[in-house]
Amino acid sequence: MVLDVIVMGAINMDMYVHVDDFPKYGENIQAKELDQQVGGKGSNQAVTVAKQGVNQVLIGAVGQDDFGKQILTTLNQQGVKTDAIINKEDTQTGIAVAVVDHTGENTFMVILGANMALNAEEVEEAMAPLEGKIFLLNLETSQESVLAALKMAKKKNMYIVLDPAPEGSYFEETLQYADLVTPNQQETERITGITVNNVEDAKKAAKWIADQGVSDVIVKLGSEGSVLYESKKDRFTIIEATKVKAINTVGAGDIFAGVLASELARNSDDLVHAAKIASKASALKVSRPGGQDGIPTKEELDQM
Ligand code: ATP
Ligand code: RIB
Repeated sequence: MVLDVIVMGAINMDMYVHVDDFPKYGENIQAKELDQQVGGKGSNQAVTVAKQGVNQVLIGAVGQDDFGKQILTTLNQQGVKTDAIINKEDTQTGIAVAVVDHTGENTFMVILGANMALNAEEVEEAMAPLEGKIFLLNLETSQESVLAALKMAKKKNMYIVLDPAPEGSYFEETLQYADLVTPNQQETERITGITVNNVEDAKKAAKWIADQGVSDVIVKLGSEGSVLYESKKDRFTIIEATKVKAINTVGAGDIFAGVLASELARNSDDLVHAAKIASKASALKVSRPGGQDGIPTKEELDQM
């Protein structure tokens, strides 16, 4: 069977510490609550894809610990296919601790554990039997796993969507394999050296990335929406953000990527439409509390 979307990326247990305001360095403050949710860019993207009703599989790694077991159970309940997730010995499951303030903005500290232990052979073995239309990848696993995945996806002629996140994990070799790249403002600056403060900067940076041989680029601008550049049509499209009150912006980019990939699996010819739906979906997620349980389904998006 040809899958609609194959996702590869990090799988973490997220701990959100909710506060009114970010603590100052050295300060001791009272937090409002601690919320534990399955996260990681790969797992967030895979849950998003599953909730869009297209068929998928997630490639990644967890440790043989309680968090690993809990995560697999939760992902299965969310409809994610987990047979290609590797159970790594002697490594802990990834853990991410986030401080989320009253504006919904977040700062993460991530112990990547098993995600960084994922190796090229494991990825090649996991991908060998798989065929898919869209390959969706972020950069929160080891470099060797990322490169192995990109090479396999290219060989298998899949349309490769690269979400070059987090910013610190970007490396240049990835660009040459990607058909569509979706950086946020910081990632765009890291890739291009261009500081992105507005739509004009985003257009310049998107064109710079396309000039490296990437067919399509979406530069994401948070609550300001995003800028899509399609090099074959030499066309820019401004995708407006839906106005919402932000409660928790964690994973906005993951939900954007997951819906984008799902919509492209349905119709690969209409990137503008896919980006508009992705923008709606991420705004809806941002307006909700919680993590993966706040990811909208296709039905919810259709009703919006
Ligand atoms: P993340 O917070 O997951 O790291 P990101 O930095 O990759 O996200 P952003 O640019 O913050 O990506 O957001 C991705 C998309 O989500 C935006 O292009 C926009 O469509 C939507 N979005 C993000 N924040 C908001 C917001 N406050 N209001 C409405 N839409 C938003
Ligand atoms: O993009 C959000 C994700 O990044 C979180 O779920 C967290 O696990 C971090 O890796």
